[in-house]
Amino acid sequence: MAKNIILVGFMGTGKSTVGWRLAQKLHMEFIDMDKEIERITGLTVSDLFRRYGEVRFRSEEQVLAAKLAQRENMVIATGGGVVLQEENIDALGGSGTIVRLEASPEEILTRVNRKKGSRPLIRRDMNAEDIADILKKREPLYACARYRVTTSGKDVEQVVNEIVELLKREER
Ligand code: S3P
Repeated sequence: MAKNIILVGFMGTGKSTVGWRLAQKLHMEFIDMDKEIERITGLTVSDLFRRYGEVRFRSEEQVLAAKLAQRENMVIATGGGVVLQEENIDALGGSGTIVRLEASPEEILTRVNRKKGSRPLIRRDMNAEDIADILKKREPLYACARYRVTTSGKDVEQVVNEIVELLKREER
């Protein structure tokens, strides 16, 4: 079975951008879980949180993770909070290799500020320390990944090549 590649990591670590390019390079299908949830519900992630609360979003996320885990040969860019529910990681992890993308809190802040308002868990007045605090809480959950790749100070192509190398080594 052609395994999936599952990208996890905090918001703004580059999962969607890297995932799309990685899929192109490896001739795999790409799926962005947040975008898929938006397609299924007909609402943006922000509107979903605002109208129905985080619980509803997490429930959509869980159903989707279980569905995607049944498929193969896909690069899956998860939402940063997919690790909050153990069953998501059990399901997705069983379908392939989990790769964690990382970036410094400063870089995360710069990246999330570029898309202000699209991430309901990021308040407008948050600074790098606030980001570091949330990251610290989630740290043990991201440890589910087999590989860690930092995206700070690298371009997309570099990150993609690093992941490809790691996966090639795994095949040997
Ligand atoms: C979330 C991350 C977001 C999105 C939602 C919740 C989180 O995805 O799923 O806003 O809990 O970290 P990105 O990591 O793509 O920003």
